[in-house]
Amino acid sequence: MIYQIYPRSFFDANDDGIGDLPGIIKKFDYIVDLGIDAIWLSPIYMSPMHDCGYDISDYYNIAPCFGTLEDFKTLLAIAHSNNIKVIMDMVLNHTSHVHPWFIESSSSKDNDKSDWYIWHDGKKGKKPNNWKSAYLESAWEWNQIRQQYYLHSFLKEQPDLNWHNPKVKEAMFNIMRYWLDIGVDGFRLDVINYCYKDRRLRNNPFSINPFSEQTEKYNRNRPENYVLVKEIRELIDSYDNRMVVGEVFSYPPGNPELSASYLLDGKGLNLSFDFSLLYQPFNARKFYQCIKRWYNTIPKTGWPCNVLSNHDQPRYGDKHSNDDSDSINRLLALLLLTLWGTPFIYYGEEIGMKNSTIPLKNIVDPAGKRFWPIYKGRDRARTPMQWSDEANAGFSNFASWLPIDSNYRTINVKNQIKDRYSLLNFFKDCIRLRKKHSALTCGLWEPLVKGKHGILVYLRKNDYETLCIILNFTNSPTLLNYRYEAQWKVLYSTHRSRFEHFADLRIQCYPYEATILQKVGDLT
Ligand code: GLC
Ligand code: CA
Repeated sequence: MIYQIYPRSFFDANDDGIGDLPGIIKKFDYIVDLGIDAIWLSPIYMSPMHDCGYDISDYYNIAPCFGTLEDFKTLLAIAHSNNIKVIMDMVLNHTSHVHPWFIESSSSKDNDKSDWYIWHDGKKGKKPNNWKSAYLESAWEWNQIRQQYYLHSFLKEQPDLNWHNPKVKEAMFNIMRYWLDIGVDGFRLDVINYCYKDRRLRNNPFSINPFSEQTEKYNRNRPENYVLVKEIRELIDSYDNRMVVGEVFSYPPGNPELSASYLLDGKGLNLSFDFSLLYQPFNARKFYQCIKRWYNTIPKTGWPCNVLSNHDQPRYGDKHSNDDSDSINRLLALLLLTLWGTPFIYYGEEIGMKNSTIPLKNIVDPAGKRFWPIYKGRDRARTPMQWSDEANAGFSNFASWLPIDSNYRTINVKNQIKDRYSLLNFFKDCIRLRKKHSALTCGLWEPLVKGKHGILVYLRKNDYETLCIILNFTNSPTLLNYRYEAQWKVLYSTHRSRFEHFADLRIQCYPYEATILQKVGDLT
């Protein structure tokens, strides 16, 4: 179970309005208490912050707003002493435009780093090809000094590296070695399917995908990416007990086959994100289909991971709910923590934080600035962690970098800690159960009811026990009628007490009920 922390929004220890590493250290008891196995930190490296740290200008140091290298080492030591692993974000596709490599590369056509980025004269005064950046503009920017275009898949402040150059690979592998030597437990590889580009820079074919007017045939998922992933895995495996999880980006509705392909039959990524589930509407049948397809595509040697929210996406629980958000959040938590595959929990998900409404003047995310008001950007899922009902939600004594959601007086950690039946305690219970019952981690996943009448039912079972997970995605009482004679008792439930038991799976489900039944007579 991995907990994603967006460092600038976790806790601000030095009261400058931006969360920092000493802040994470201060709140480490909270993290330990959750019961998770690892934390993943979004980028904390030196950066001019055009894309909230995903534009790195020095991979060997920590941005001053987050603290120092010493702070990071302290955090690592505290995490390890609590048996919690630390995963760092690693951005390989691009650097910041103020990274010394880019400054040197752009200084002339013949310098030591002249081919560290992707440069081109253009074609008869026009851009080199039709590739688009994530901001839906040309991915080519003219550089005055060098008098050439350079490629950027994201902002123009994020020039893409030329991975065909072995020196780039060597430099990046050295960076990863440096952090592994310091003791980090692994990396989350940013847009790992973007690194290699077609050497001939061929035009992409046009497409009818609503998110992009072209199929990214020549600038993503190039065959060389797979070789790269394999080499990264070899590097990772040359250390004890480390891992890599990759962001294999694809537009909605997601592409599980593509994500799984990067697992390379046990020789590639340890884990690969597929976003199909978080792109799904809240619907039992759709969830079933999506989970089934994901599992079918995982190679025998592979292991899935599951995620519903992250720093690029609206918080899932809030996106699909209204007044029922608390019930829906519980159902989603129980689902996430009983599925086969490593669960990723995004900070604030465990207390049901919402997608904030942020006025244009406060928007920080470049995507929000660019596409407002059609798309208001990613800030709404990045607001500061709501610790208490005190000023600034107990996050900082200073105005925070993004406005705090006004709901902090009711939705906050302090309230939920003291309430035995809060969402936070529900999450903790589910995390604890996942740790205790090996069937939930390693057991087989066997669907019984595949979304009929809005109900999803599946078993998790191994030699020791059989658990049955029942999820009613609807807001009305619904009859589950599945013939499975056995003595079932309630192990955990949103609605039922542990004294209830059933002789068959004929159960009148409550609205949004989420229940784990345990088959009596198994070994535990
Ligand atoms: C990934 C990150 C996102 C960032 C982009 C460019 O998709 O998750 O936050 O903007 O890469 O680095
Ligand atoms: Ca701070």
